[in-house]
Amino acid sequence: MKSLKILTLLLLILLVACTSDTFDREQLDLDLMNTINRESPTGDLSYFIMANSTDLANLPQDPKNPLTAEKVELGSFLFFETGMGIVPENETGMQSYSCGSCHVPEADFKPGRRQGIGEGGFGFGYKGESRVKHNAYEEVQMDVQGIRPLNVLNVAYSAENTLWNGSFGSVAANVEVSDIWGVIDPATELNHLGYHGLETQNIEGLRVHRLLMTRELAESLGYKDRFDAAFPDLPEDQRYSNLAVSLAISAYLRTITTTEAPFQKWLKGDMAAMSNEEKRGAMVFFNQGNCNACHTSPAFSAVKFFALGVNDLDDLVTFKEGPELAKKNLGRGGFTGRESDMFKFKVPTLYNLQGTPFYFHGSSKLSLDEVVEYFDRAVPENPDVPASQIASEFRPLGLTEQQKADLVAFLKYGLQDTGVVRYKPTALPSGNCFPNADPLSKREIGCE
Ligand code: HEC
Ligand code: HEC
Repeated sequence: MKSLKILTLLLLILLVACTSDTFDREQLDLDLMNTINRESPTGDLSYFIMANSTDLANLPQDPKNPLTAEKVELGSFLFFETGMGIVPENETGMQSYSCGSCHVPEADFKPGRRQGIGEGGFGFGYKGESRVKHNAYEEVQMDVQGIRPLNVLNVAYSAENTLWNGSFGSVAANVEVSDIWGVIDPATELNHLGYHGLETQNIEGLRVHRLLMTRELAESLGYKDRFDAAFPDLPEDQRYSNLAVSLAISAYLRTITTTEAPFQKWLKGDMAAMSNEEKRGAMVFFNQGNCNACHTSPAFSAVKFFALGVNDLDDLVTFKEGPELAKKNLGRGGFTGRESDMFKFKVPTLYNLQGTPFYFHGSSKLSLDEVVEYFDRAVPENPDVPASQIASEFRPLGLTEQQKADLVAFLKYGLQDTGVVRYKPTALPSGNCFPNADPLSKREIGCE
């Protein structure tokens, strides 16, 4: 009897010691764990834990491009190498731009502005936000696209088919449309090489963005030994080529995962990594919001295509791509030509949404509050998209103001890894300024 009294007393002390907040938190953690276990395709929340950048064995990869530390390091330099800009449309731009011009680490690997500018741009600012058209350029000479760049962070988790229309890659959704590879979009002929989307697309990306590697350049920029170490099995006539560059850059991009985001830490057992608001937001995400119906991968991306009826970028920006590229607005239908694919776009990752306040493929929403409101109301904004194409999962959610605020907190803070600049090299072997090397960018970046 006496021991029971002591036990009751101890319990009481324990209860008083716990503030109601930590008590809530524990209940909330348990509820969230149960929810996520239930929603996980494997029945376990560990499904959503992404592999660390150094965990090469567990990062998703293309069997034709196995990850090695040598490739990853080489790719981490080449992604930013302005010295590869040797095939500009206008001599003024010679060796002044790189992949990083539009995928800026400080802006969560997006351009820092509504539309990215590669060659033909001038200036950088802090994170690409003040890059403008160079005076020496005609608009048609500029490297600009009529669609917002996808985030390359976590691309490993949806790399089978890349781009908003998923046109690159020989696997996954593209298997059943192999007859049209190279037909409507000549560049997709590259799918016949048999690589995953990322590896395939970056070959084309180098051409589109006017970058070129040659043996002479590899030597003069100081990369030859690194190519030799990364690609000992490639014959010498391919070893210092755009194919090798694509494989190295793809390897690098596969390692840039947002593993330090609070939600990732929480999944790994650090219950204090997220606030109560973020945890309640995660509950909304998996329950009433039904967001994971489409955002299915560990990075909340997917190699699946849906129409949400959002507005296109060319309604909003100054620099237009040529008319032949207007088919970007048709989404997957622009690649396959099939009615059933019209206006459907790839499901993007939901990590690191803060870097630039431009959401959806047309940058039509300027805050996460607006995005959540759009999903809650489920009224398509683009009159060109027929109602029959709109995803059936895109329907009014009836969220309360509190639930919307919590969901925004989860997206904004819970899914934000604030340290992704760790993936940016401190310097290039060539010593070149990066990600841009035009005179104004050089000054702003602090290269001179
Ligand atoms: C002028 C700006 C610009 C430059 C320079 C640029 N990109 Fe992009 N990137 C984009 C845009 C825009 C998209 C989306 C295009 C689309 O889906 O049609 C994109 C998409 C991507 C994707 C697709 C990710 C996914 O989830 O499907 C990858 C990978 C990528 N870029 C890598 C690169 C590499 C590698 C380079 C250098 C060779 C590069 N980018 C240079 C603008 C740019
Ligand atoms: C029907 C499938 C589907 C559902 C359900 C869905 N999404 Fe999406 N989501 C998409 C697609 C597809 C896109 C890209 C659409 C586009 O830009 O055309 C997208 C884009 C987004 C973006 C913009 C990301 C970026 O890089 O611009 C955010 C944020 C987002 N979704 C959050 C959510 C949230 C939160 C929910 C739940 C309330 C949700 N989604 C439910 C398919 C879906």
